[in-house]
Amino acid sequence: MTDRSDSPAQLSFERDIRHMFREKDRNSMLKAFDLWSYSDVQAHQDAILEQLRNGTMPCDGVWPPEHVATLERWIAAGSLP
Ligand code: HEM
Repeated sequence: MTDRSDSPAQLSFERDIRHMFREKDRNSMLKAFDLWSYSDVQAHQDAILEQLRNGTMPCDGVWPPEHVATLERWIAAGSLP
């Protein structure tokens, strides 16, 4: 359980994804969606991933590649809650 990102089939939003979004990210994007809400992130997952991949979001710094990879694996494994 020390490196959960090695188990793609078991990635969960609450455990593995939610914490990657900072309070600042959540507050900045609330007018569009809630990054701490499973249903909102799942509904917009492709657009969110695209922004993170190409580095346009967050606007104050690019995500580390491991975070992008974890989000990709979460989506590929079916975006579990
Ligand atoms: C569909 C995906 C997204 C779209 C279309 C989007 C679009 C935008 C737009 C239009 C703004 C306002 C920029 C401004 O007022 O100058 C903004 C602000 C911001 N977004 Fe996003 N965003 C997306 C996803 C994300 C994600 C996934 C994160 C973080 C992981 C994020 C973090 C931020 C932050 C931190 C700001 C505030 C920047 C600042 O004012 O310092 N956004 N976003």
